[in-house]
Amino acid sequence: MPHQGDCFLVPGPVRMNQSCLDALATPVITARGSEFRDVMASLNSGLRYAFNLSPSEKIRKKQSWTGDDGYKIIVVSGSGTAAMEMVLANRFRPNDRVLVPTNGKFGERVAEMGSRFCNVKHLKYDWGRSFDFGEIEEQLARGNWEALAICHNETSSGITQDAEELAEMCHRHNVSFIIDGITSVGGMPVHPEKWGAEAVVVGGQKCTAGPSGIAAIAVNEHFVKRCNAIRNQGDSNPVYYLDIISALKKGDDDQTPWTPAINPAMGWSAALDTLREEGLENRWERCTKLAKGVRNLFTDLGFKLLADEYFRSDTVTAILYPEGIDDTWRTKLKDDYQTQVIGAQDHFKGKMFRVGSMGETTIPEMVEGCKRMISCFNDFGLDLSVESVESYFE
Ligand SMILES: Cc1ncc(COP(=O)(O)O)c(C=O)c1O
Repeated sequence: MPHQGDCFLVPGPVRMNQSCLDALATPVITARGSEFRDVMASLNSGLRYAFNLSPSEKIRKKQSWTGDDGYKIIVVSGSGTAAMEMVLANRFRPNDRVLVPTNGKFGERVAEMGSRFCNVKHLKYDWGRSFDFGEIEEQLARGNWEALAICHNETSSGITQDAEELAEMCHRHNVSFIIDGITSVGGMPVHPEKWGAEAVVVGGQKCTAGPSGIAAIAVNEHFVKRCNAIRNQGDSNPVYYLDIISALKKGDDDQTPWTPAINPAMGWSAALDTLREEGLENRWERCTKLAKGVRNLFTDLGFKLLADEYFRSDTVTAILYPEGIDDTWRTKLKDDYQTQVIGAQDHFKGKMFRVGSMGETTIPEMVEGCKRMISCFNDFGLDLSVESVESYFE
């Protein structure tokens, strides 16, 4: 059936479904009682599923946050950036050397944030260009690195890094692997255990279609060991609210150190139930289908995509505006066609738009949204026509 109503095609925050919204509107419960611990147990178990980790029971006092693979889930009351800060501030000491290759805004943020807590070497590539793996390997081979930290799926430029190959490099050179998986976890294959990733971060409002303002980290045993060792040696970075040791102490008991984001936790847990119903791999496949359709359609229409061809993201597509068109197109698309995509950041502002293909976006919504985008471009004097938008999403 064709999609009716607004099209909301942004790369997060994404639309929340009714069960998530209903859960967000649950009458208040206490932060320390058994009801909230039940919520945490359910959330932890749902997050383990989204992170593609071994299963845990959704039951209080049954260690819902951990599983056979030894990874633990830490829920953070804050957006994805807070969770990433928690990882970097707790895991490293000021002198630890951390290599951060980047090709977009969010990778650059990892480098900038990291430089507050450790000794970052920033390998800065142009937005949308693939990393130079030879250069990274060469750097790592010189030794003396504590970690490689990356943004797995660069939402600003629509490129996904080959995390598996980077993981192998980290393994070869015995360095830790830290991942901002904020727009990859739940939307494309992420394998924390297979990749030996020490910490992977996700935000609620992206591929898992939960609320914004809540995030989570999956950490392995080595990560926990290092955080403890650094703290005991007394050369850790200053942290208080984002102290991971406090969070780890409370996790066993399905609790958080401070008053948690109670209702967002309930909403996220409901959204993760929906993810489980759909199936993680089915969601990955749907995101692929949506993104592939957008990529092929706009390429056939003569548009240029920012990201290098073989590394284009399945959860966000960055499309350059044709000559003479800017963000006034987006305003018209929103006002006249009730369709939202997102603009670009920094030096690409006004030069491109980005289409999200994450969360629970359906194929009919994307088809309808693309038809409206095409009509709106034609309002600006372009002469675009396509026989069947639907055929791109089959
Ligand atoms: C890849 C990536 N990393 C980090 C962030 C920042 O996350 P938040 O806005 O939840 O703090 C975003 C937000 O869009 C993102 O897409």
